[in-house]
Amino acid sequence: KGRSSLVVGNWKMNGSLALAENWAKEFAALWRQAAPAAEAGLCVPSVFLDRLVRSLRAEGLEAVEPGAEDVSVREGSGAFTGEVSASMLRDAGARLCIVGHSERRTLFGESNASVVLKVKALAAQGIRPIVCVGETREEREAGRTSEVILAQVRAVLGGCGIESLAGGAFAYEPLWAIGSGAAASLEQIEPVHAAIRAALCEADAGASEKVRVLYGGSVKPANAAAILALPHVDGALVGGASLKAESFYGICACGR
Ligand code: G3H
Repeated sequence: KGRSSLVVGNWKMNGSLALAENWAKEFAALWRQAAPAAEAGLCVPSVFLDRLVRSLRAEGLEAVEPGAEDVSVREGSGAFTGEVSASMLRDAGARLCIVGHSERRTLFGESNASVVLKVKALAAQGIRPIVCVGETREEREAGRTSEVILAQVRAVLGGCGIESLAGGAFAYEPLWAIGSGAAASLEQIEPVHAAIRAALCEADAGASEKVRVLYGGSVKPANAAAILALPHVDGALVGGASLKAESFYGICACGR
C-alpha cells in the first residue's frame, strides 16, 4: 500500500486553551527531535481551535493538521443558534473534521443522513472528513459486524460520493473498544479494514486510493506499532492518549 499513516487525535469534551498552547509546544519539541513519517492531526473542541492553530504556527509546526470534532449540517450562515458551520471551521484554521463519531451517533442522535450532509458541507470547504463507523458489542457477538460496518460505509459513499472523501478517511471504531483501555485484537481489526477497503474500491478504484481507513479504540504507544503495521490500516484515531503530547507523539512515531 502506498498511503502514509495518518494519526489523528480527538480530545472529545476535554482540554482547555492552556492545554492547546502547551500541547503544541511539547509536541513541537518532540517533532523537532525526530519527525515521524506519519501525518498527524489533532481535533479539538471548536472553541480551542484558533488557539491551537496559532500555537502550532508559533512553533513552526506545519506538519500537524488542526481539526474539529463535529460540524453543522447547515452550510453558510443564518439563524441556527449554537451551530458552527464548515466555513467557520475553515476560517478558524481547521483542515480536518471528525464526522459521525459513535458518541454523536449514540448520545446525540447523529444519523447516516446527517453524516452525509456534514461530509458534503466539509468537502465544499476543502476540509478533510474523518467518518467514524463501528459496531456495538451485541452486534459483534451476533456475527453482524461486517453487515453493520458496510451499511454505514455504503450509506455515506452512496449519499455524498467517494470524491467528497478525497484526502479524508473512514475510521473503524468498535464501540466496545473505545475508552476501554483494550483495543480490538489485530485479528479483529484487519478483516474489517479489508472489507472497508473493498467497499471503497468497489465504489471507485481510482478515487479509493485517496481515502484512508483508520483504526480507533484504545490506541496507545504500547499497541500502536502492531496496529499501524497491519496491511489495511492507514492510521489511527486516538482519544485519551491524544491529550498528552508525549503519548500522542509515541503513537505517531509508530506510523509509516
Ligand atoms: O475518537 C477516538 C476514539 O473514540 C477512541 O478513543 O482512544 O480514548 O479509546 P480512545
